[in-house]
Amino acid sequence: LARARQAIATHTRLVPDFPEPGIQFKDLTPVLADPEGLAAVTAALAEAAGDADLVAGIDARGFLLGGAIALHLGVGVVAVRKAGKLPPPVHAERYDLEYGSACLEIPADGVSLAGRRVFVVDDVLATGGTLNAAIALLSAAGARVDAAAVVMEIEGLPGREAVRTAHPDLVLTGLTTG
Ligand code: PRP
Repeated sequence: LARARQAIATHTRLVPDFPEPGIQFKDLTPVLADPEGLAAVTAALAEAAGDADLVAGIDARGFLLGGAIALHLGVGVVAVRKAGKLPPPVHAERYDLEYGSACLEIPADGVSLAGRRVFVVDDVLATGGTLNAAIALLSAAGARVDAAAVVMEIEGLPGREAVRTAHPDLVLTGLTTG
């Protein structure tokens, strides 16, 4: 965990006024592009997986982490995608954004989710809407989601609280806040 935090602190790129004026975007791209950063972050996130037998990575940067973590754990990986990308049939879950709403999807065929212990990963937790929708979606498909993890929790936003409220028994790991 210390190595992961060090890599995140060293390599995160701070982008002022993105995606809106006044917001400082935390770009984790250089962390994952660094071989030691990728290894340390992958290992630290994998430690939070509990007894998961499948990893779910959230569109889009969660895909990078999900594949690496799954390989580290010796389990498979599934992509939780933004709507309209997967072939049918799909399970879908709509969720609220600051303005409007969005939709996440997972395959309803080809991957058996019933009874699976799924570990959900993403790069960043902000309001928690995306992670909550992914957990709800996987749960509705019959998966057991006991744990989820992100690289960074954004300070001053209620993501952790929102996840705790919606999924009180879920163990949520954030490697850093920023
Ligand atoms: C970002 C981030 C998370 C989500 C967190 O993705 O990668 O998935 O927002 O925000 P929330 O906690 O408020 O829901 P984004 O929706 O920007 O999509 P992208 O990964 O395709 O850029």
